[in-house]
Amino acid sequence: MNFKKSISLFCLSGLCAVALTAKEPDARTVKAIERNMKVMKNPEKNLKKMATSKLYLTSNFIREVAKLEKAAKALVRIKHPAKEFNELSDELVEYLGKLNAAIKKKDIKDAAKNWGYVKDICADCHGAYKD
Ligand code: HEC
Repeated sequence: MNFKKSISLFCLSGLCAVALTAKEPDARTVKAIERNMKVMKNPEKNLKKMATSKLYLTSNFIREVAKLEKAAKALVRIKHPAKEFNELSDELVEYLGKLNAAIKKKDIKDAAKNWGYVKDICADCHGAYKD
């Protein structure tokens, strides 16, 4: 390998390293996400339990969805360097809204469907960003 080639390879790998590290959130962001997830933990656990008995239209279910929605809106305000992360936060708010709309219409089938999507979004983000 000649000198010019090795220099360009070196620069390329440097660029890759910069591109990769640019997607890493800083310590403050990581802490904020951690705190946010602690808030989501219990509501999700309660909702999961109620969903197995199809209690989508109960006041308990509605109250726990509201807690998740509040946390999801706070998550949207946490700006992550990875675009996909922020998109998933937006989606979480969007699908919690759809879940609420289904409950309002007293449509159990639609509520079940959107609750499934909400859980998928949690899992998608965890698959990509939780270690
Ligand atoms: C946009 C990304 C994203 C979405 C959406 C998301 N999470 Fe997380 N979640 C994370 C990340 C990142 C972590 C790892 C945080 C850490 O501990 O450093 C995490 C960790 C967690 C943890 C473990 C926290 C702990 O105490 O160790 C729980 C519980 C959790 N999430 C619940 C949820 C629930 C429930 C949802 C959906 C309603 C959800 N998350 C949606 C990114 C997300």
